[in-house]
Amino acid sequence: MNRKLIAGNWKMNGLRADLQTVRDVAAAINKTATAPDVLLCVPATLLAQAAVAAEGSALKIGGQTCHLQVKGAYTGDISAQMLQEAGATHVIVGHSERRTLHGETDEIVAAQALSAINSGLTPIICIGETLDERTSGETLKVIEKQLGGSLSGLTDAAAFVLAYEPLWAIGTGKVATPDQIAEVHDFVRRFLMGRYGQAGDAVRILYGGSLNPGNAAEILPISNVDGGLIGGASLKAADFLSICMTACALTE
Ligand code: PGA
Repeated sequence: MNRKLIAGNWKMNGLRADLQTVRDVAAAINKTATAPDVLLCVPATLLAQAAVAAEGSALKIGGQTCHLQVKGAYTGDISAQMLQEAGATHVIVGHSERRTLHGETDEIVAAQALSAINSGLTPIICIGETLDERTSGETLKVIEKQLGGSLSGLTDAAAFVLAYEPLWAIGTGKVATPDQIAEVHDFVRRFLMGRYGQAGDAVRILYGGSLNPGNAAEILPISNVDGGLIGGASLKAADFLSICMTACALTE
């Protein structure tokens, strides 16, 4: 069993006052001997301060996207190196909101992931099907295509994390059933082992999409679910910590 990773994705939420949430999470996980790996991906404006707030604790801080280049004339963008220097250890790439709203393709996502790795960050590469794709029975085909494209050029299985996030479950309160989650996660595992051999077994595959304190105990024990990527429920320390504690109980 892989060590679980519980990752929060604050999206475009969080002002300076919310650094208290970072402090609360950092303090709580430090008291827990068998905590899973815990990460908060905060807005870029809070990253450096969040990293300071988490200092001395096991809590890690991450970014939410990065440009595929290290630097250059890309107004408004942020590079993996910048995130790393600000204190990030991880960065989410290919989140469906980036793919949909910013036109990020599998090819771009793979380049972003490589850039992250080259800058010393661990990319969390997101994949997932739309409701239409699921209802027309194309889920695994879509996932296979996204995996092939988004992992292109990534030769080291130890360098990245994957997150399966069905689009219809993100921010909707609709959670995939354990059977639906298991089917995709098992498929992803087989894909990874086919591509990377035994090293593919150690790649962490997170589930994301309306994961919350009420359903974590049902989702996190599913085979090949190595943690969660949590949006809404990561904004309140108590909710996020409750999910961390559920993961904790599973590793004891
Ligand atoms: P949600 O978001 O937990 O609010 O559904 C998950 C995500 O988009 O990463």
